[in-house]
Formats: sequence, C-alpha cells, structure tokens
Amino acid sequence: MTMESIAAAKEAFGKLLEEQLKRVEVMKAQGDFLNYQALDKIIIGVCGGDGIGPAITSQAQRILEYLLKDDILQGKVEFKVIDGLTIERRAAEHAAIPAEVLKELKECHVILKGPTTTPRKGDPWPNVESANVAMRKELDLFANVRPVRIPEQGIDWTFYRENTEGAYAVGSKGIHVTEDLGVDFTVVTSGGSERIIRAAFEYAKANGKTRVTAVTKANIIKTTDGKFLDIFREIAKDYKDITADDWYIDIMTAKLIDEKRRKDFQVMVLPNLYGDIITDEAAEFQGGVGTAGSANIGKRYSMFEAIHGSAPRMVQEGRDQYADPCSVIRAGAMLLAHIGYGKEADKLYQALDICTVTEKKLVITGRNTGATGAEFADYIMETIEAM
Ligand code: IPM
Ligand code: MG
Repeated sequence: MTMESIAAAKEAFGKLLEEQLKRVEVMKAQGDFLNYQALDKIIIGVCGGDGIGPAITSQAQRILEYLLKDDILQGKVEFKVIDGLTIERRAAEHAAIPAEVLKELKECHVILKGPTTTPRKGDPWPNVESANVAMRKELDLFANVRPVRIPEQGIDWTFYRENTEGAYAVGSKGIHVTEDLGVDFTVVTSGGSERIIRAAFEYAKANGKTRVTAVTKANIIKTTDGKFLDIFREIAKDYKDITADDWYIDIMTAKLIDEKRRKDFQVMVLPNLYGDIITDEAAEFQGGVGTAGSANIGKRYSMFEAIHGSAPRMVQEGRDQYADPCSVIRAGAMLLAHIGYGKEADKLYQALDICTVTEKKLVITGRNTGATGAEFADYIMETIEAM
C-alpha cells in the first residue's frame, strides 16, 4: 500500500515537473513588453465578474470612456464588455475561466476586471480554481503591482509581488500521498524571478526611487527563496544608484507597523504568497483592502482590478447599485497610466481625492442612505469637467 502510494505520488510529481519545465521554455521564448503606442487600436476589455462586480465595473467604464472619448471617436481605443466570468458559468463548465471568456480576454490588450467569487469549503459551488489566479497564469501576468500611499504619514510603498510562481504555481495540485500525508509545492524559476525583480528595479529607476527591498524567508525556504534572493543580489549590481537590501518576511511584517522605520521602505519585491499577505497588511494602513488597486502586468497582457471580494450579500439584498466603485475606478486610473494616458490618469486620481477626501459632496454607504455608484461616477466626471 505504502509503496503504491509513493509510486502514485512520484508519478503525479513527475507530471508537475514536466508542466513547470514547459513553462520555463515558454518564458524563454517570450518577447518584450507590448508597446501600446505602436498599436493602431488599443482594446480594453471590461470583465464585470461576480456579485457587485458588474455594477461597479460598469461605472468605472463610464468614467474611462468619458476620459478617452476623443480617442474612442477616432478609433484608437475600443471597449469590449466580456460577460460570463461568473461563478455560475464557471461551475457549469467546471472551469476556472470558461473557454469562450478566455478567448475573448485574449482578444484584448488590457483588461479591467471586477471581483470574482472563489469557492471555499461549504459553498454550493464545485471546487474550481480561483478565476484570479487562473487569469494570472493563463495570461502570464507575472507582476502584481500594488501601491500603498499615505502622504500624511510619509508612506509611499510599491509592492512588486511575483504573481505566477511560488506557492501559487501548483497550488491546486498538491498531492495527498496517503490519508495521513499531504504535500504542497512551491516553485521558483530563474526566468520568473529575473523578470519580476528587474521590473521592480526598472520601476524604481524610472520613478526616482532610491531603494529596492527583497522580502523572503531564505533562511528556511532555502532552495526557492534562496534562488529568488541570489538572483535579486545579482540583478541589483546593474543598478548602482539604487540601494538594494533584503529582509525576512516575518520581521518585515513587524517593521510595517514600526512608525519610525516603515517610511524608509520604497519598492518591495517578493515571492507570491508573501506578497499576497503583506499587501493586505499594507493596504489596511491606507483604509483597507477596498481602497487598494492592483495591476497585474505581463509582457503581452495586463489586467487591473480591485482587491476586495464580490459582496454577494449586497446583491441578494438588492443593494448592488449602492456598492462603492472607488477601488475599481482606482484600478481604472492605473490602467490609463499603464497604456500611456498619464494625464488622464492624473486627472482621475485628483478627482478621486477631491470626491473622497477633500470635498466629499456625496457619500457612499452601501445602502440607500448614500449615493449610488452611478451618482458617484457622475460626481467624478463633473469634478474632472470643472478642473
Ligand atoms: C489577492 C487575493 C487572491 C490571491 C485570491 C482571491 C485568490 O487574495 O489578489 O491578493 O490570493 O492572490
Ligand atoms: Mg490577497
């Protein structure tokens, strides 16, 4: 029995290795980042997702369409609404992303995505993989960029979270060797580490940042985190003007609440799972995960999303039109900047600031005691119009 279990586990492990080695080859064959300016037309996909997703995402789309109206008229930008990335469709097809939806996503250059429901134990849904994680893998969106800014506290952090490897690479393919033994795997490749680390340094260089910090647990997870850290040190040599240092994830998590020290961090680059955890912690200082936008960047595709959930209860209670669209609007601003509309992005950031901090003529409460998402989007557009 034990021998058979080990043999079966070995075989399963062998398959995982084959898949990962294939991925290494695909990465090697990859070209450079897409140059949006060289395209005749940029296609922006808008994928509402589940729960409150369609309601808030459509409001963000209205604002983007307003900001890009001239280029839309000239045929330089086109919006494409992609339905069907819903938990119902995914459950029916037993797919993390339904095939038709994936095809449509691949016809776009950039994607604005609403939240999607990830099934968990006890849900009525089959255990399909998270649509988020699947999209990152399918479109090879390797850089998860998450900024956290609190100017009044001097905090200006940008996290470069590796988005396709680490504990997530084969996260849904761990092996139950016997009833008593389960094994998961974490994966690091040289190519996968190089591209995220270089992206972090390039961002630092282009934005006047003077420090890039790697965060690992290389003292314990020696092979994979060790590789990530070795590559970090190697790449750092190409950026002589930037201070490169490294911290372990445990003490880094503590330092983020050290008010004296935390201001000193600027750009942080880290493997997938550490990035997942620490960006929630960081966003909390800024007002919660609902306030944070997230950019998922690959060489060919990019996807921008809010990092909160799909709030199914709001939909059940008929309150989705009152859901706060700010986080996905913020993701929209990141999208604009990414595809070369920096001025429009700045206007949108400014308007968000005016409408949610300084002026606050409308307040969203999530219920009919506050503004609807549509009213709030109107308010943003009126504010931009008056600038
Ligand atoms: C995030 C989320 C996802 C992740 C979940 C929804 C799968 O927590 O984007 O940080 O773990 O990456
Ligand atoms: Mg997370």
